[in-house]
Amino acid sequence: MTPPDGSRELATPAEPIDSARERFRTDVLVGLGLTPKRLAPKYFYDRAGSFLFDAICELPEYYVTRVETQIMRARVNEVVASWGPRVRVVEPGAGSGTKTRLVLEALGPERCVEYVPVDISREHLAHAASLLRADYPWLKVTPLAADFAAELNVPPGSDSASTVIYFPGSTIGNFDPPEAERLLSRFRRAAGPNGTIVLGVDLKKDPATLHAAYNDAQGVTAAFNRNVLTRMNRELGADFDADAFAHYAFYEPVRGRMEMHLVSSRRQEVTVSGQRFRFAEGESIHTECSYKYDLPGAERLARSAGLHLIDAWLDGERRFAVLELRPVL
Ligand code: AVJ
Repeated sequence: MTPPDGSRELATPAEPIDSARERFRTDVLVGLGLTPKRLAPKYFYDRAGSFLFDAICELPEYYVTRVETQIMRARVNEVVASWGPRVRVVEPGAGSGTKTRLVLEALGPERCVEYVPVDISREHLAHAASLLRADYPWLKVTPLAADFAAELNVPPGSDSASTVIYFPGSTIGNFDPPEAERLLSRFRRAAGPNGTIVLGVDLKKDPATLHAAYNDAQGVTAAFNRNVLTRMNRELGADFDADAFAHYAFYEPVRGRMEMHLVSSRRQEVTVSGQRFRFAEGESIHTECSYKYDLPGAERLARSAGLHLIDAWLDGERRFAVLELRPVL
């Protein structure tokens, strides 16, 4: 899957795999030491996890990706209309998928001077870049290896192009409100005063619909959730029995978020990197939050990050919103 030349093309020296591994180890040891235990959702996405997430996007219950793609198919020309004549598109979380392609095609070679996918995984980045280069030979792709949740040092463009930070998929939902504010502020600074931020946001809705989306009948979401246990076994020499943890996902309407947990089905002890962790029967590892917004809430979040809402595109059932944000000047 990785193109042989992928590693030469990174805008920053790629991080040695060991240091990514060590960060994973540290985060796991810290997170499992907390009460309640928790793990960051970014660790779902190893090769198997990314594959499972792609499968989630195809599920009948998981409307999120389908609805956002439907909005973009119908409205992409309106979405890109105000981006300016020369645009550099930065996408935190490497994209080579349908939505990215819709944006790049709507801009075309005349307007899109550069595409900068950003991802922690060199492998994801190189793969995404090679797929795009194959289909859009005119496109200048400049992959950037970084954990965008920690930093986003976009190399300055060499020309007068304006920067658009494209952040689809409701990935923003994985961040607690204070983190989401910091992330959007960082995006604002990276985009600069003439920049634009385009955000995909999953909207608050009937809890039964939300519940079904994270508790699919085929158990793909359960496998996605449990995969992080298998990943710790493989990468950190842990000894989790994945079958001894139940997938548990629910909507918490006070904070307006889905929570995903792995609940220990019995009292047990697990060793990770030589460190022992005890689980009581019924004790959970909190593996993900997925915040849902209404338009006023999304607008407040944007404001808190020094951004204001320029435009919003919603599907007919108001399940999902694509928001266009600009710095408050
Ligand atoms: C990729 C973070 C948007 O929160 O809906 C899907 C991940 N988790 N099913 C989401 C996810 C469970 C997804 N995001």
